[in-house]
Amino acid sequence: MVSRRSVLGGALAATTLPFLGPGAPLAGSAHAAEPTTPHGSGLAESRVPRAFSTPMPVPTVLRPASTSGDQDFYEVTLRKATAGILPGAATDVLTYDGHFPGPVIHARTGRKVVVLQHNGLDMPVAVHLHGGNVSPESDGNPMDVFDPGTSRTYVYANRQPHASLWFHDHAHHMESEHVYRGLSGNYLLTDDIEQGLPLPKGSYDVPITIRDARFDEDNRLVYSTADRNRTTILANGAVTPYFEVAARKYRFRLLNSANLRFFSLSLSDGTPLTQIASDGGLLERPVSVPVLPLSPGERADVVVDFSRYPVGTQLVLNNSGPGSIGQVGKVLRFDVVRTAEDPSSVPAVLRALPAAADLPATVVTREITLGMDEDGRPEPRGFINGQVYDPERIDTTVALGSSEIWTVTNTNRRVPHNLHLHLVQFRVLERDGVPVGPAEAGLKDTVRVMAGSTVKLHVTFGGYRGDYVYHCHMLDHSSMGMMATFRVR
Ligand code: C2O
Ligand code: CU
Ligand code: CU
Repeated sequence: MVSRRSVLGGALAATTLPFLGPGAPLAGSAHAAEPTTPHGSGLAESRVPRAFSTPMPVPTVLRPASTSGDQDFYEVTLRKATAGILPGAATDVLTYDGHFPGPVIHARTGRKVVVLQHNGLDMPVAVHLHGGNVSPESDGNPMDVFDPGTSRTYVYANRQPHASLWFHDHAHHMESEHVYRGLSGNYLLTDDIEQGLPLPKGSYDVPITIRDARFDEDNRLVYSTADRNRTTILANGAVTPYFEVAARKYRFRLLNSANLRFFSLSLSDGTPLTQIASDGGLLERPVSVPVLPLSPGERADVVVDFSRYPVGTQLVLNNSGPGSIGQVGKVLRFDVVRTAEDPSSVPAVLRALPAAADLPATVVTREITLGMDEDGRPEPRGFINGQVYDPERIDTTVALGSSEIWTVTNTNRRVPHNLHLHLVQFRVLERDGVPVGPAEAGLKDTVRVMAGSTVKLHVTFGGYRGDYVYHCHMLDHSSMGMMATFRVR
């Protein structure tokens, strides 16, 4: 059993989120319906939804406004809406086209997606396709915003392989709050390689976006930077919901869209999850993971075979990440309610990726450091290589098509970070000098970097010339300045 702390003592408490590494799956009954606890959430007892009392929504798939030979055209309006997150109450949220949880766009490699975004909010926005190999005009750079009442066309060429991508707001200094209030959605890119596999498809392929939130007594989402009291866990926008499944295999596309929280996910009966994909698409082979770590912005696709359970079984997806188990220890419950045919399977080989030794030769090795003020000051700053983000500054210049080694070190003593690069999918070679395990050895765009540790990345800067950002994807940290710009030339 792993011991857990919900708070750090002393001055650090205001600015840090403790991280307790992945541990064993939680013991305990999969059948108990326990209330989520209200501590720190500001919610009156009566308002606190009981765990597993609402169904998990499946996010809405957007339909193209028109399609032509080689492209799908979408029209989306960013607007305020209300969502029924808490029982009998409406919560104000920010949405793409009114959808909370955010909608899904399906895309196919080789087929262009064009999205005309209308800004119906009262703040500037930028739409970023996270994980996408996208031209600089369509990347949603933090400074490349469009104003209320105006529109912007984003063009996604989809020249990269399949991957579970996502899109979210990226307006400088506002991305953190905007994403928190609802501005994110899934962008599921597929290709012939993926379609040729017998993996679970259709209604057995379900995106599950996990995050935390804090509500006040008027059912409002409360946002303040580096808030440790976001202790209500949402799966697809519902508080610790249940999800009815058939006794067969499902593919779940897990996304951590939280601003700060690291999740460590496991099934309540101790059965390992079968991870088949990471940020940049399928792994070479399925990997059995007893506990799946997922930091903000990261994705992992898993297959769960419910055919091993009798109808009537209830199975909890637990979280053993930082925080008190009573508050954040349960994410959702799978209820096995029927049997079903299952033509799907998980092949032993999913795709081919070059081995680390066969990656393109590197021309440059760079040292990147991530850090933030840990001294408890009221407005901590975030740094990359000692500097706060300045959109006027080009921090790193790389040659188009070249490959580099980036060694990324978290210089903090306690605070975990991660690093996300726009434009590219990279390979994680080592963590603290040791080759990473198979779950992290596929294509990645976001990598965990725990306090005091170093990861070594192999990055190839392909696709486009232009300016792109790299940052910690704990969005509270990037809005504190833990962001920098690389120029591909
Ligand atoms: Cu999820 Cu700069 O992005
Ligand atoms: Cu991104
Ligand atoms: Cu960080």
